[in-house]
Parts: sequence; structure tokens; C-alpha cells
Amino acid sequence: MTQLPGLLDTEAIRKDFPILDRVVHDGRKLVYLDNAATSQKPRQVLDALSEYYERYNANVHRGVHVLAEEATALYEGARDKVAEFVNAPSRDEVIFTKNASESLNLVANMLGWADEPYRVDQDTEIVITEMEHHSNIVPWQLLAQRTGAKLKWFGLTDDGRLDLSNIDEIITEKTKIVSFVLVSNILGTVNPVETIIRRAQEVGALVCIDASQAAPHMPLDVQALQADFVAFTGHKMCGPTGIGVLWGRQELLEDLPPFLGGGEMIETVSMHSSTYAPAPHKFEAGTPPIAQAVGLGAAIDYLNSIGMDKILAHEHALTEYAVRRLAEVPDLRIIGPTTAEDRGAAISFTLGDIHPHDVGQVLDEQGIAVRVGHHCARPVCLRYGIPATTRASFYLYSSPAEIDALVDGLEHVRNFFG
Ligand code: ALA
Repeated sequence: MTQLPGLLDTEAIRKDFPILDRVVHDGRKLVYLDNAATSQKPRQVLDALSEYYERYNANVHRGVHVLAEEATALYEGARDKVAEFVNAPSRDEVIFTKNASESLNLVANMLGWADEPYRVDQDTEIVITEMEHHSNIVPWQLLAQRTGAKLKWFGLTDDGRLDLSNIDEIITEKTKIVSFVLVSNILGTVNPVETIIRRAQEVGALVCIDASQAAPHMPLDVQALQADFVAFTGHKMCGPTGIGVLWGRQELLEDLPPFLGGGEMIETVSMHSSTYAPAPHKFEAGTPPIAQAVGLGAAIDYLNSIGMDKILAHEHALTEYAVRRLAEVPDLRIIGPTTAEDRGAAISFTLGDIHPHDVGQVLDEQGIAVRVGHHCARPVCLRYGIPATTRASFYLYSSPAEIDALVDGLEHVRNFFG
């Protein structure tokens, strides 16, 4: 078995993930390399979800009975866990949403309805990048269309990094918000947050970071990042689907208006007007994703029990190994950085002129699950003149043997297509 420095004991970790024992297609052992799309869930999270429904299920913040109080304590306890996980100065800065897309839409809508000094209007500019997931493009396009604001973006270099050569022209005195991804879901690039934030702060622009592909894989410290908003999702970090997070600076959350109206986000309601509850409840209209938040709390406990530093080191070792092994495959071109230094554990590639959907299908027949397509980041494919990519992405339970299986599988794909 290949041993690399920094690897976790994947044999032990995999015992926590029942699904990884699955066999698919004629008894082939599942090789799950689609972790950037969604991670698998450990037994500890599955147990927390069923225990919640078996013992505590009730609506939160509404009842005086035992179950309602226990469910509320569990839901708010999950908020405490998230706050600690990202080193938030206050638990009130953690808003639960249904996913990262909703978190990013929430920021765009807060700013669209805000008064000065946050208001986005026809005299202001919004800045994003060409490597964003659609969830960090479309909400800003909608906001720009609605307000008349100008949408600008950083382009990409040929090697899959942000082109910041014109940073002073892109981020200007007119910029209200700069929203960008910390780790690209398609290119794997880890972006230079400090450089972008420094410029945004110079002009007084707010900064929103999409940390969907970062929070599961590395220690995340919102205070060290110095951003104003950070969005991520639970299902990519061993949690259930249906739960996302928006962290926001407290004074902003106090000042900015709500986006969705409904139950539990109010202080008082009359037939003429309403006043709002303080954050985070102001931004959590209706019955929230209670069980999902509890599941996310259990996922955070699980990740903490392994250690985010150790998960980062494990994935770094795997990524280095994968980049090296993939270089042995003839006609394979990595789309994104080709060194492991400033990249995460999602690696996109093309294989000669074999269409990625064909690559994915032949890999699937061998039990290897990857994602193919534009990965909800179509502008990246347009930039590099390719219709799609094949993407392999790793997590704490991924092993060098699975990378070997991928490389062998790609050899098979090449033989299959002659
Ligand atoms: N954002 C997820 C991905 O990159 C779905 O696959």
C-alpha cells in the first residue's frame, strides 16, 4: 500500500462511513471521488439525525413543552458549534440557510434592499471573478439587473489562477461588494484572499467569501480572513443536505434588512407594519432546517475529533500524489494549477478529445464515481475553450489506492476509445 507523509489512517476512518462499503456494477468496490459535489456521512451524523427524530422532534422557539425546549437547545447548540468551528466572535453572527447558494442570495438581497451606506444602485459596482460557481454569479447578475449596478469580474490566467494584474481598475471607489470563492470547485485553486481584501478595504467595499470548498477541508477562521460575509454548506462537510451557513459581521447584520419575511423573524406584527427580531433570527424566516442543523453540529464534532489541520495535511498529500500520478496518463491535461501548493483536493482534467461524459461513464462502469460537466462554473469552461471536464475530488477517507484505481481506470478509458 502506498504510504505518504501526512496521511490519516483511512482504514480506521472508512469504518465510520457505511456507504463506502458499497459495491456497484458487478461487485466492484465503490471508489468515491465526487466529494466536491457532496461528501459521504459518518455513522455519527446518521445516528444524530435518527436520534433527533426518534427522541426530540418538535418545532423550535415556539413551544413551552419538553420536546420544544430540547429541540430548541439542540438547534441553538448547533449554532454554537458552527460559531466555534469558524472562530466567529459571536454565535449571533451565524445564520442557518438551506445551502451556500441561499447564503449568497441572502447577501445579494440584503444589499439590494439596504439603505446607505450599503445600498447597491446604478452608481455602484459589484465585483466577482470568472472562476465562481453559478451560485456566486447569478445572484449578482440578478442584483445588477434589478438595481442598474455594474457587474465586473477578475479574469483567469492560463494556469487557472485569478488575474489580479488590474486589481485597481476592477476594485474602485465605486465598488460596494467583492464576492469571490476561497477554493474553486472546478479548478481547485486556492485564492489569495489577503491581496483582494486589502484592496477592497482601501476603497471601503464589503467582502463576501464563498467557502463551500474550503470549510470542509481546512481550518476556517472568519476573524483571520477579515471578510464581512462567509458562506458555506453542510453537505460537503459530512453533514446532511438542506443546511447552509452564512456568517456575517454583527454590525452589518444589525443594519441590513431581512430578505425573507415570515414566522419567527419578527418582533411585532400589525396589519400595517412589522419590526424585526435581532440577528440571526431576522434572517431565518419560517421553520428552520432543525434536524439538518443538528446533523451539521454532529458533523462538526466528527471533523473536530479528527482535526482540521490533519484533514488539510491528508488532502495535501493526496493531491500531490494525484497530480504526480495523473501526469503519467498520456493526453491528460489538468485544468487548473498543476502543483499541489496552492490548490485544493478537486482536480479537473480533460483526456485527449474523449468527451468527459464518456470518461465518466467508463470510469463508473469500473466503480469509480467522478463528476463530469461544467461543474456549475460554465464560464471557466468557456475561458479554456473546453465543453466540460472530468473532476476527481478527495476527502478525509480517500486513499492513495483510490488514486491508483483512477489512474488505472483512465488507462482503461483510453484503451476503450482506442
Ligand atoms: N457545487 C457542487 C460541485 O461543485 C455541486 O459539484
